[in-house]
Amino acid sequence: MRRLVAMVGAAALALSLAACGSNSGTAKGTEGATGGGNSVGVVTWWSAGSEKQGLDALVKVFNEQNPNITFENQAVSGGSGSNAKQKLQTDLAAKNPPDTYQAHAGAELSSDIAAGYLEDVSGLYDEFKLREAFPKTLLDALTVDGKIYSVPSNIHRGNVVWVSPKALEKAGIDPTKAPADIDAWIADMDKLKAAGVAHPLTVGSDWTQLELLETVLISDLGADGYLGLLDGKTSWESEGVTKALNHFSKLMSFTDPGLYQEDWEPAMKSIINNDGNVAYNVMGDWAPAAFDGAGKKWGQDYYSWPVPGNQGVFDFLADSFTLPVGAKNTEGTKAWLKTISSPEGQVAFNTVKGSIPARSDLTPEQIAKFSDYQQDAMKSFSEDTIVPSLAHGAAVSIKASEAMKQAISKFTSSGATDVASLQKELGAAAKN
Ligand code: BGC
Repeated sequence: MRRLVAMVGAAALALSLAACGSNSGTAKGTEGATGGGNSVGVVTWWSAGSEKQGLDALVKVFNEQNPNITFENQAVSGGSGSNAKQKLQTDLAAKNPPDTYQAHAGAELSSDIAAGYLEDVSGLYDEFKLREAFPKTLLDALTVDGKIYSVPSNIHRGNVVWVSPKALEKAGIDPTKAPADIDAWIADMDKLKAAGVAHPLTVGSDWTQLELLETVLISDLGADGYLGLLDGKTSWESEGVTKALNHFSKLMSFTDPGLYQEDWEPAMKSIINNDGNVAYNVMGDWAPAAFDGAGKKWGQDYYSWPVPGNQGVFDFLADSFTLPVGAKNTEGTKAWLKTISSPEGQVAFNTVKGSIPARSDLTPEQIAKFSDYQQDAMKSFSEDTIVPSLAHGAAVSIKASEAMKQAISKFTSSGATDVASLQKELGAAAKN
């Protein structure tokens, strides 16, 4: 059964900038100035590498469709928006919004909506005929009290293991076959270690660790149990969560702490290079774009499968764009929202970015432009149970996910063994 929980959480949402937590770092890499006049200032975190290439592909279509509007790149570097979100909160609170900004569809926008930072763009859904173009599950996730506050450009899947065949060869493990569950996966990692692969698994900074953890929760609780964490039907104190956290602790013992401050791309470099030093990395499917950039082929230089125990579950997130209250060039913003939701924009962007289009009405010719991996992901999205990502804003408020990241950082930086404290702190974080 395909389901998407009500991804926008309960109304009580704290607005404070403390939401962004201590790991958010300093905004850096901002390009361009504020929007206005006939230019449209767009904040994303797609500032470099494969993500910037995706943005460039989108901007090309925007320029073709809007020759009289100048795109102003206000990207803030930092995977998963780790820095962009902090800068945005400051700018929004100071009533100095950009013309539009990237955010995840779902609970992440709930505090901005409650603070009155965003215009209702449901009229644009009618004007651009988006209600017919997007799947109902996505529309439901975007709708808050009958209104919609952002327009999605894409859908990503978060629960994917990226596999280096060269490392697995060392232990005689078949890279095409996913282990059945987390225990079987751990057994393979033990074999890899014994075969001389020092760090069978890699993770980077806090949000990549939270992404790994959410997939372990999905494995150990099942999709229903995981969804229950979001609507209160599953307790964070339950035995199922303890089991998942013990698995997470064990998985972390296979990782290299030297990478814990790195962004996703450097943290999975060994896998991208297939250098045989690292076997696995759990990452969203923006990763294929990085493999493409390095000239690597899926099913040859790298493999992927759902995280063991996540079969039939699609851990969902969608990048979307907003119309902030007080934006200087609202017509420019509307033009941007039109491009990113148009078939041309979605094809140009997603074929480069690794994600699948948010539109479900593309023609067979348009779909044929997508990679084998992406066509497979489209099939999964249409068949699997859909659950929202914790690390990428679909499932919980910014404040809750930031508090979860802090708890995880504390846990992993102190040896990843104090499961009882982690469990308590995650439960408290979820209350935000
Ligand atoms: C975004 C992706 C992005 C990834 C890494 C996610 O939160 O949804 O578009 O590629 O972060 O930066």
